[in-house]
Amino acid sequence: MFYNLPSSKILSSGSATGASSRIFKGEGIAAALSAYGLHCEFVCADAAPQVITYHFDLSDPMQRNSVKRYIKPVSAMLRCKVAEVDSNKNAHFALEVTRQERQFVPFSDVLRNKEYNDVQNPLSACLGYDTASKPVILDITKAPHILIAGETGGGKSVCLNTLLNSLLFRATPNRLRLLMVDTKRVELSAYEGLPHLLAPIAKDGQQALQVVKNLNTLMRSRYEKLNAEAVSNIEQLPPDKALPHICLIIDELADLMLMCKDEAEPLLVSIAQLGRAAGIHLILATQRPTVNVVTGLLKANLPCRIALQTASIRDSMTILDHKGAERLTGRGDAWLKTPDKVEERRIQIAFIDREDINAVCGWWRNNGITE
Ligand SMILES: Nc1ncnc2c1ncn2[C@@H]1O[C@H](COP(=O)(O)OP(=O)(O)OP(=O)(O)O)[C@@H](O)[C@H]1O
Ligand SMILES: [Mg+2]
Repeated sequence: MFYNLPSSKILSSGSATGASSRIFKGEGIAAALSAYGLHCEFVCADAAPQVITYHFDLSDPMQRNSVKRYIKPVSAMLRCKVAEVDSNKNAHFALEVTRQERQFVPFSDVLRNKEYNDVQNPLSACLGYDTASKPVILDITKAPHILIAGETGGGKSVCLNTLLNSLLFRATPNRLRLLMVDTKRVELSAYEGLPHLLAPIAKDGQQALQVVKNLNTLMRSRYEKLNAEAVSNIEQLPPDKALPHICLIIDELADLMLMCKDEAEPLLVSIAQLGRAAGIHLILATQRPTVNVVTGLLKANLPCRIALQTASIRDSMTILDHKGAERLTGRGDAWLKTPDKVEERRIQIAFIDREDINAVCGWWRNNGITE
């Protein structure tokens, strides 16, 4: 089968909207801090869509430990949430100011980003920008399984859509196949009929369990093929025997786990443990990152985590193993933990609307296949 790839021209031309009028002058903050008794000089600021990080040098390095005391007055002065963020330099500190009027990052903006376009890998998705305004590029084969969690309205479905559509601009069904579970029945319905789909979208717990069972069987048969060819993963197969990567996307893991945890959990754990070599990846989203849903064994095998705003510190602990996600500001503001990086990154997920999702899926249904 021959396939074409869509062009970014099919997207509506959304542009980043900002709130530049609300960007404070770093020198002004330094002058106010100095007036309060914390003598410092403004160095630079990094403006991200959701937060601005201001860097300062202290005149007296001995004041490093007393920075905390000045957070409340600065916060009251700016009428914004302010937090001290890590800075590993001596005599230096950084304050993160949450923007009141958030910058909106449209999907088309990240899709056209030069740094992302320089990455040729068809299985790399671009999620948005980090706080240093660098594009956040995720190679799903290296991820190799992703947990997306956060409270309702935090932006899980938008995150799934951004990730998926980003891949749909690069990967033909020869490279990527999809399986979807959408027990809410509305979140992923736009993808129905996509040539990448290996099976119809599962819409209830029973269908979802069947999808997971079938995927497990497929994974075992792929292992037999790898053994027969004496290779250790699908990338090493000869070109005439090449296999596409497969992503199983579950929009609400809790619906499956609360219905048939005893059957579903061992299957998901086995895919998470063995899937990578067979080119099989899990992308699991949940509003309830509790131990009943994201069990210890499952979590241990999902090394890539995207934490959106959580309802509690406990939920943050379940996803990231530490607190912090409860202080995120919602609407795609997230912490990203990847297996290849020691440090987590604060990111803003790009927003894709229904119209653009329909444009991409409609394009694939009508123009994607040439033969
Ligand atoms: N990256 C983003 N940029 C801008 N706005 C966003 C972003 N993500 C989410 N939002 C806003 O938040 C709303 C809710 O997002 P979304 O539906 O993804 O939440 P959710 O976490 O999936 O919620 P639920 O658990 O109820 O399914 C969106 O309709 C949108 O208005
Ligand atoms: Mg959702």
